[in-house]
Amino acid sequence: MSPTVTVIVGARPNFVKLAPVVHALRDRPGVAVRILHSGQHYDPALSAAFIEQLGLPPPDENLSVGSGTHAEQTAGVLVGVERALLRDRPDAMIVAGDVNSTLAAALAGVKLGIPIVHVEAGLRSGDWAMPEEINRVLTDRVADLLLCTSADAVGNLAIEGIAGERVVLAGNTMIDSLHRLVGHANTSELLASLGLERRRLALVTLHRPAVVDDPERLAAVLAVLERLADQLPVVFPMHPRTRARLQSIGPRRARKLVLLEPLSYLDFLALESAARLVITDSGGVQEETSALGVPCLTYRTTTERPVTLELGTNRLVGTDPAALAAACREELALARDFAPAAIPLWDGHAGERAAAAIAAMLARGAQ
Ligand code: UD1
Ligand code: UDP
Repeated sequence: MSPTVTVIVGARPNFVKLAPVVHALRDRPGVAVRILHSGQHYDPALSAAFIEQLGLPPPDENLSVGSGTHAEQTAGVLVGVERALLRDRPDAMIVAGDVNSTLAAALAGVKLGIPIVHVEAGLRSGDWAMPEEINRVLTDRVADLLLCTSADAVGNLAIEGIAGERVVLAGNTMIDSLHRLVGHANTSELLASLGLERRRLALVTLHRPAVVDDPERLAAVLAVLERLADQLPVVFPMHPRTRARLQSIGPRRARKLVLLEPLSYLDFLALESAARLVITDSGGVQEETSALGVPCLTYRTTTERPVTLELGTNRLVGTDPAALAAACREELALARDFAPAAIPLWDGHAGERAAAAIAAMLARGAQ
């Protein structure tokens, strides 16, 4: 009988990170892949559109856990995943990144003795106030195979005593998705329909609780973006969390910005690859901008992706609005060639290396 692997998806970035792993596993003979969707993200713009554009098969099951407090959401996924695993016990489980669904699924699996694979293991911001940091550290602690995007992540795991053949530097699967689809993104008509020109736009994504949940902090960063909009169009596809916060402080605070609903992956790649400048608090966007050679200002005090600062196009500006305004001015004064960064193993083949490592783990387990 072929070994079965259950892949857990739940939130927007999970689809982008896991699609290359699913494709590579399905290309290998002898591994059956099941997809279990936690339902953490449920709006079509955050979920179904990604499944379709990334060519993922429809999930075999959706737990429809939805939104809630951290405890509600994590508990919902824990209970739902355990039930699914008891019904259809796989030979291994794959989780990705750092969202609540990642930790909850890993916890359900490890208690049942199912080997856990963590894609994008070992990243550390050092900021324990971030829910994602808690999710990453605890998921790594229970994982049996830890697939890292960069050498610093391997080093972080070694400091925590996690080393040996269970840690594999596979490269960045999120960048595999970008390599595969950025060409298709050029067919997006979004730029033209918004009347935008290449390299004459700033793209913004902000959704971290630390940046958007406090009304004063949100108003302060919007004021910087409004001033930037006097220089070039500022396009802001808004995560639902941010949209809700903007409604409560008054949508007029963003009247000069081009506010959009969350974009499909292809439309987002079209804007991201055409941008003069990206301002973000996203994890994945810090990586994608480096791979595209587009300058990125990260509006956070820490990053778990230091390789994008060292080898890429990312600059950590902190969360002082004045520092962001100064960084925008400095960036726009520079002449840029938009050369993609060369980061080891961000080469479009990380999914294949991940699948090979997973197959090797399954083979060891079968002995
Ligand atoms: C989650 C992740 C974050 C990740 C982000 C990716 C955690 C703790 N956070 O944050 O690390 O960067 O996803 O986008 O797992 N909502 C909708 N429609 C949806 C989903 C959510 O309207 O389909 C709204 C709800 O009001 C919800 C809020 O967004 O309360 C937050 O959603 P949630 O999944 O809890 O966290 P994110 O902010 O999306
Ligand atoms: N993304 C997208 N549309 C958007 C915003 C982001 O397709 O409107 C993609 C982006 O290209 C990247 C991923 O979503 O692949 C990043 O997800 P997000 O910023 O929500 O989460 P994080 O990476 O911070 O966990």
